[in-house]
Amino acid sequence: MTVYFNGTFLPKSEVSISPDDRGFLFGDGVYEVVRAHDGALFRLDDHRRRLARSLEAIQLHAADTDALWDAVPTLLPRNDLDTGPAKVYLQITRGAATPRQHAFPDPPVAPTVYARASAYELPVEEWAAGVRVVLRPDQRWARCDIKSLNYLPNVLANQAAQEAGAYEALQVRDGFVTEGSHSSVAAVVDGTVTLPPITNYTLPSITRKTTLELCEALNVPVEETPVAVDALPTADELFLMGTTTGVMPIVQVDDWTVADGTPGPVTQELLTAFRALTPA
Ligand code: PDD
Repeated sequence: MTVYFNGTFLPKSEVSISPDDRGFLFGDGVYEVVRAHDGALFRLDDHRRRLARSLEAIQLHAADTDALWDAVPTLLPRNDLDTGPAKVYLQITRGAATPRQHAFPDPPVAPTVYARASAYELPVEEWAAGVRVVLRPDQRWARCDIKSLNYLPNVLANQAAQEAGAYEALQVRDGFVTEGSHSSVAAVVDGTVTLPPITNYTLPSITRKTTLELCEALNVPVEETPVAVDALPTADELFLMGTTTGVMPIVQVDDWTVADGTPGPVTQELLTAFRALTPA
């Protein structure tokens, strides 16, 4: 596998990252995951903007993101991923510095910049049948809008989901659903797609944004409003949204079934429309 690392392309096995790297020591960095199909990166401009926003939010200004974004598309052909579905992971940390200190290195050090492309298997069976989710307390910090490397609460929530045989964990804060561990969430209530608003407790999901555009194109009404966990059982449909999740029907929450336990019509319409945008 050929990856991009600090301005050059090299085999992944030759990448070496210092144990002094602040990504390793503090989770001091940000990342993106971009979906690709047949060599085309989906919603590239949105991912560029979100990465820039994340870097700004953590005051990391030294990274050459133009060079990174020039390199990213070439990772697909370099790894024979220019046909079919693929995904690109990219990460920037504040770099390696000694001594270990919490404040930023002064003078600043070169950031560590890494990107890799890999094959991605479409979750077609899950799309067709729908998935089960579990409810977990949202134990994250107050800047979930930054796509930072600090994902330990998400890791624990998703691990709990996996141990329960579920696909995802829906996180609940103060009685309201925020989002999944790596996906956004929406309910369908009386034909209206109802979503938790984007706040400091939610990631500005690009799949969510795309889904809202599809709702507009398909004349599906939308309401962005807090979704109480107590209201979930009366929802007609529930679904997840995410780069690696697509538009994913939820058919079970913990031990109860959503409506009749099959993907609902609005979710299916949005999934079909979403798949048409990312055909491979
Ligand atoms: N996760 N919410 C969280 C907490 C996420 O980590 C993600 C994405 C999303 C969906 O955002 P988007 O539609 O832009 O992918 C929502 C990525 C895919 C990951 O961590 O692998």
